[in-house]
Amino acid sequence: MLNDSNLFNNSELGKTAQAIRWLDNELQLLDQRILPHQVEYRTLANADETARAITNMVVRGAPAIGITAAYGIALAARNNDNLDSAYRTLAASRPTAVNLFWALERMENVQPQTFSALLTEAQAIHSEDIQGNLRLGQLGAGLIAENSQIYTHCNAGALATGGYGTALGVIRSAFAADKLTQVYAGETRPWLQGARLTAWELMQDNIPVKLCAEGAAAQLFRQGNVDWLIVGADRIAANGDVANKIGTYGLALLAKHHGIKVMIAAPTSTIDMQTATGDDIEIEQRHPSEMTHHQGQAIAPAGCEAINPAFDITPAELIDVIATEKGLILQPSNETIAMLMSR
Ligand code: MRU
Repeated sequence: MLNDSNLFNNSELGKTAQAIRWLDNELQLLDQRILPHQVEYRTLANADETARAITNMVVRGAPAIGITAAYGIALAARNNDNLDSAYRTLAASRPTAVNLFWALERMENVQPQTFSALLTEAQAIHSEDIQGNLRLGQLGAGLIAENSQIYTHCNAGALATGGYGTALGVIRSAFAADKLTQVYAGETRPWLQGARLTAWELMQDNIPVKLCAEGAAAQLFRQGNVDWLIVGADRIAANGDVANKIGTYGLALLAKHHGIKVMIAAPTSTIDMQTATGDDIEIEQRHPSEMTHHQGQAIAPAGCEAINPAFDITPAELIDVIATEKGLILQPSNETIAMLMSR
């Protein structure tokens, strides 16, 4: 395992730029709305701006949202702003990813609530996330056979985490072990995390990736071209149901039908033991303009209505394994999850 001082510059993490940086007492976020063609960092002045950056997807992905919120609290302390208000504003920034609430709770438990103590905790959350990704990546990759082909959805990579990634962490580890022949990245309508972010991340590390429209996945699976569906998670309920990017449920059903194994790669900070089942998870509804427009350009008739749920629920019975930093959960259920969480 790496220590904190060399963690962020570790070549194992791949070539992708860090999504979140704390530099000279400032929080900087890589603006994911304009990737892959523009690589620009935004400096956040306070907790309100940090919350807005999370809502507007400057930063996105469950672990990255949690880490950013933790730094947002550090910013509030640095500015001598009202901390209660900072906690409330950040907690309201997005509803589904439990890592946000997990990170804010960790920050609330810090004593005393001083800038120095809060910054130390935010940096610990950040570096533990990277360490966890490296570990769960190795564990997940241990299940992958040689010459495997993997389908992934959304972006669960370095950009969605402290670094390295969850689903892409497994893929990076499996590639390093010479086990992969092909990765398929689902484009992930409407925000195109797969096309803009996952393809970019994998290409930078020379991992063979082909982009795939979601509508093409069924035919790809039917042709026997995929061995594993590997995705991240925004919240895992105590019974193993998983909230993840909209489209995951459909892909898991297809995978089941075609005998393709399903792996969820997520740190234990994504497991919410207070939420009994997937039905209890709030699904974020985003603005319909994300469906009707692309980069400001209308792609649907003026006035067209649209639904835009950001996440769906994949029932535990469709999942073969959850890879976490604490170990693998085979056939997720109340029992197997409780056993891992008690370690
Ligand atoms: O709306 P997003 O881009 O924040 O959604 C992200 C996802 O659904 C990811 O798959 C999930 O957060 C896992 S990230 C390691």
